[in-house]
Amino acid sequence: MIQLQDLFFHEFISVTQVKEAVNSVSLKINKDYKETSPVFLIVLNGAFFFGSDLIKQFDRTCEMSFIKVASYKGTKSSGVVSKVMGLDMSLKDRDVILVEDIVDSGNTIEAILKMLKQEHVKSCKIATLFYKPLAYKKNYPIDYVGMEIGNDFIVGYGLDYNGLGRNLSAIYKLKPRKMKNIVLFGPPGAGKGTQAEYLKTKYQLVHISTGDVFRHNIKNETPLGLLAKSYMDKGDLVPDEVTIEMLKSEVDKNSKAHGFIFDGFPRTHYQAAALDSFLADKGEGINGMVALEVDEDLLVERLLKRGETSGRSDDQDESKIRNRFNEYNTKTAVLKDY
Ligand code: IMP
Ligand code: MG
Repeated sequence: MIQLQDLFFHEFISVTQVKEAVNSVSLKINKDYKETSPVFLIVLNGAFFFGSDLIKQFDRTCEMSFIKVASYKGTKSSGVVSKVMGLDMSLKDRDVILVEDIVDSGNTIEAILKMLKQEHVKSCKIATLFYKPLAYKKNYPIDYVGMEIGNDFIVGYGLDYNGLGRNLSAIYKLKPRKMKNIVLFGPPGAGKGTQAEYLKTKYQLVHISTGDVFRHNIKNETPLGLLAKSYMDKGDLVPDEVTIEMLKSEVDKNSKAHGFIFDGFPRTHYQAAALDSFLADKGEGINGMVALEVDEDLLVERLLKRGETSGRSDDQDESKIRNRFNEYNTKTAVLKDY
């Protein structure tokens, strides 16, 4: 498995299979272009590898030219194809072979074929290394196809995710994430617990509140609870390592979960990095963070009100409340950027 930015991919088409697909296309092209000297029009950037190998295997004279278009952002087509770099030679009366890395919706080849209309070419055929028949929405025949694939997002051999992965020799397929993981973020009293209840029901997620887990472990005198208590009794903060271990065991306890709502975690930069790498080992990650932002004076009012019924001593004293905001503002709020 490989990681490109936030996504994971696993090997899908081997180097040998890619070579075979390239060879099958070049064999057919060599057979069809015995009489003329074609122009290979390579669509940048993705088809650069395929075009290069194809031309090297072409056994007569030929020329090559490039055109650069853009439509993809991340793993989805924007549907709008724009020309980034135009033709640098006349294609009038030439036999053109349009070389693509992959044909998906067909928007790109349609846009290029329209541009070529004004060039008065003699003939134009389309060669693509990969073709997604289930995604193709146009009617232009694809003359040469190296390999058909399903509606998967792939990288390697020129194909990219946000510019990355082109240099891989094999083809890798996007590994779908099974989980929806949300971090709920906000100062004490913002309503994280309340919102977590709604989200948990609506998306069938497991809610992990580190405060609740601590209280539960301490109450049941688990080894972790006793360890945490030993720090708390001395008035020390529970070290990040202990909190992280506790969180990991909560996640592992719920291995069949659709995802988690992390509430009160991560609180420090160190915890955030640990959470990322812990989830990455499972091929998962944080899908989003919801930040609840509330004016501080209003928060004080709300917490004092909660203190009247919650029995939590830290909700009953304005100076203690202000101190928690201070902790939040100095240590936790900076995580928003992370
Ligand atoms: P279409 O315009 O939807 O046919 O998409 C064609 C272009 O989108 C290709 O030239 C690629 O740049 C990009 N593309 C489509 N599918 C993939 C994929 O699975 N991985 C990487 N790029 C892709
Ligand atoms: Mg392309």
